[in-house]
Amino acid sequence: MKYPEELLEEVKERSQGMQLEGINEGAGPINPKLMLVGEAPGRNEIKTNIPFNGSSGKELMNSLSLLGLKREDVYITSVVRSRPYSKKVVFDKKLNKEIIKYPNRKPTKKEILAHAPLFDYELNQVNPKMIVAMGSTAISRLLGPGYKISQDHGKVLKNQSILQLNEKKNSYEWSNKTYTLILEYHPAAVLYRRKLQEEIQKDWLHIRAYLRE
Ligand code: URA
Repeated sequence: MKYPEELLEEVKERSQGMQLEGINEGAGPINPKLMLVGEAPGRNEIKTNIPFNGSSGKELMNSLSLLGLKREDVYITSVVRSRPYSKKVVFDKKLNKEIIKYPNRKPTKKEILAHAPLFDYELNQVNPKMIVAMGSTAISRLLGPGYKISQDHGKVLKNQSILQLNEKKNSYEWSNKTYTLILEYHPAAVLYRRKLQEEIQKDWLHIRAYLRE
C-alpha cells in the first residue's frame, strides 16, 4: 500500500535519531479475510519492498499453503515498516581487517510507538476480517504485555479491542472497534527452534475453521 506523504513525514519526524532504514510497504488486498502482522522488515524486505520476502517469509508461505492460501490472498505487514539495525565492528578473516556490519535487530518499544501512526492507518484502510498477530512483538503492540507466546499461541480472541495510538500520540489506548485476533508464533521462530514446527502447523491449521465462517 502506498502511504500518504504526510504520514511518512510524520513517522520520519517521530523516528529521528533511531537506527531505522527505509520503508517497506505492507502488501495485499483491501478487506481481506486475514491481515498478517509481523515485527519489522529485514534487509531483504527493504531491498525488494516485499514484506516477508526472506527466510522467515519462506516459512510463512509454507504456513499459508496449509490453508490453501497464497501471498496474494492475504494482507501482510508488520508493526514497524523500516528495518531496525545495529552497528557492529567485526573482524573479516578474508579481508584481514575490521569491518562495520549493520545487522537486523528487533524494534524497540520507542520505535514501535514512532511507527504507530503508520500501522494504525494501514489497519483502518485494510479493514480485515481477522488479524493474525505473529510473534510477541506484534502481540504486545496490539494487546499490551499480558500475553506469553509459549502459552498463548494458537488462541483466537473474538470481539477484541486493540491498542492504538492515543490522541496525544505519545502512548496507546484501547480501540472502540473490535476484531477477531489469532495469536501465532513469528514465522522465524521455527528457524531457531525446529522442534516448534509441528505446533506451528497445528496452530495455522486451526485458522482454517475460522476462514469458512
Ligand atoms: N519479519 C517481520 O516481522 N516482517 C517482515 O516483513 C519480515 C520479517
